Amino acid sequence: MTIGVGSDHAGFELKEIIKAHLVQAGYEVKDFGAYSTDKANYVLHATAVAEAVASGTCARGIIICGTGIGVSIAANKVPGVRAALCSDTFSARMTRMHNDANVLTMGARVVGMGLALDIVDAFMGNAYEGGRHQERLDELQALEQKYSK
Ligand code: RB5
Repeated sequence: MTIGVGSDHAGFELKEIIKAHLVQAGYEVKDFGAYSTDKANYVLHATAVAEAVASGTCARGIIICGTGIGVSIAANKVPGVRAALCSDTFSARMTRMHNDANVLTMGARVVGMGLALDIVDAFMGNAYEGGRHQERLDELQALEQKYSK
């Protein structure tokens, strides 16, 4: 499974730690930048990861900025992406099970390294339940189509 990762300058260091964690767990990782702590606006890198997930190049994405909010807003503008901002493991597990979230976002200024890696494991280690949740995902898809040009 290939995981796309990305960040802005604020998320760069945590993104590197997550990358190493994913590789150690046996995932293939595709890095969409940023590649240093030099100023890098989050929209560019978040949309690169989101587009890779939407196109199927990457099965899932993990994107980090200072709060996780900017990258979440950007990623959710890409049709087909369901990005979830998580600061706890319960949300990371539930968003996979109920929302079939395909992108995880986190704030490097919000969560510490240990919690961030636990959140990654909860996100990667849980599957979509389907069933009663599917009609809600269908509604989300219809909403996307309603506003697509
Ligand atoms: C960068 O300073 C910061 O604004 C950004 O990382 C993020 O938190 C935006 O949502």
